[in-house]
Amino acid sequence: MKTAVRGDVLSFRGNPFREAERDCLAFQRDALVVMENGRIAACGPAAELLPTLPADLAVAHYPDHLILPGFIDCHVHYPQTEMMAAYGEQLLDWLHHYTFVTEQGFADETHAREVAQVFLSEQLRNGVTTGCVFGTVHPASVEMLFQEAARINLRILAGKVCMDRHAPPALLDTPLTAYEQSRALIQRWHGQGRAEYVITPRFAPTSSYGQLEMLGALAAEFPDVAIQSHISENLDEIAWVKQLFPGCRDYASVYQRYGLLRPRAIYGHGIHLSDEELDAFRDSGASLAHCPTSNFFLGSGSLNLRPCVESARPIPLGLGTDLGAGTSFSMLQTMNAAYMAAQSHGKPLSAVQAFYLATRGGAEALGIADKVGRIAPGMEADLAVLNLRSTPLLDFRMRYARDLSEALFIQMMLGDDRAVAATYVAGSRAYQQPR
Ligand code: GUN
Ligand code: ZN
Repeated sequence: MKTAVRGDVLSFRGNPFREAERDCLAFQRDALVVMENGRIAACGPAAELLPTLPADLAVAHYPDHLILPGFIDCHVHYPQTEMMAAYGEQLLDWLHHYTFVTEQGFADETHAREVAQVFLSEQLRNGVTTGCVFGTVHPASVEMLFQEAARINLRILAGKVCMDRHAPPALLDTPLTAYEQSRALIQRWHGQGRAEYVITPRFAPTSSYGQLEMLGALAAEFPDVAIQSHISENLDEIAWVKQLFPGCRDYASVYQRYGLLRPRAIYGHGIHLSDEELDAFRDSGASLAHCPTSNFFLGSGSLNLRPCVESARPIPLGLGTDLGAGTSFSMLQTMNAAYMAAQSHGKPLSAVQAFYLATRGGAEALGIADKVGRIAPGMEADLAVLNLRSTPLLDFRMRYARDLSEALFIQMMLGDDRAVAATYVAGSRAYQQPR
């Protein structure tokens, strides 16, 4: 099926942390994005392309809007949707008092399906078209999420959490069941439509040596399968890892020892990584997910992204909401927090850099940049359409925006779900904001 949208189109042809911003931006005023069979068939000036289209093709016209690649959330826990805004704790207490209580509810498949539906519809309301998502320890939690995502043809990456210690008994698997259940989910879902399986040890403290070994073996068996986990988020967590793994030099060495640092392995946070650990990421090709709203919410600290992105050997970096420690589904709000985090390390994050991280940068970090993250012929047709005047304040403020980068900066500082006018998934409109 052929569809088309018309408006100002923004995408990235280069990396604004490494090249001049103007060379990275692909901005076209009054362009047409033509989509066919889930992919972008053409993108160019509306005046040129319109005459080439069948006369009966309805074109969705978005004047005064910005058409972007769909946003990519590189690190998020769908089961935690129901416990966002849980008061008063830092990471380890927050996990025990809130997270591990909530996640037990996912033994119930009906509940898991309901939460998956709410989660995916919130993502679409926020222009997010791909997430790299944690389930719970229950394989059915991932099954439900994949089923619901398949219904709307979303590109999604997800995995069953593996943990066999330091959590309530109802949430524990074993080295063998973690391996077998993850393997069965790979065989059932990996590469099925737009789904990809992700091997998902929760984090080092909740996996025994035996479990990490089994998951390393699984990763070796499936070298193209992504891996996700957490690293170096909180100082007490880091001290605990030192105690639990006295034979490892540091936190990154734990994952490295078990073969879990490699290309397409993406770790949330990495706020307190040492220079040696950053080098281990560089050597291995593993990625980081920057989760600033979560880091501020849990009082964890904040990532200094410069050593990752500006190094001669950069570490692929994407943005994550990390719900439910994260406080918003909105990637605009996540960019807002990323700006604050960058400021706290002495150098601002530009709007062009932030939008890059939320789109193409995220796709690179997840190893799917050949499929999504850009608007160009051949890419999968996932789009977010932003209304640049979505609130009275934005309507007023935008009158004074002098150029594109200022307009983008205003959106990421003041915009949220209200700015998302429509979301397209594989060429079909999957969400339209009610008037
Ligand atoms: N570390 C281990 N599990 C989690 C989690 O669910 N959320 C966050 N923010 N950090 C974690
Ligand atoms: Zn997380």
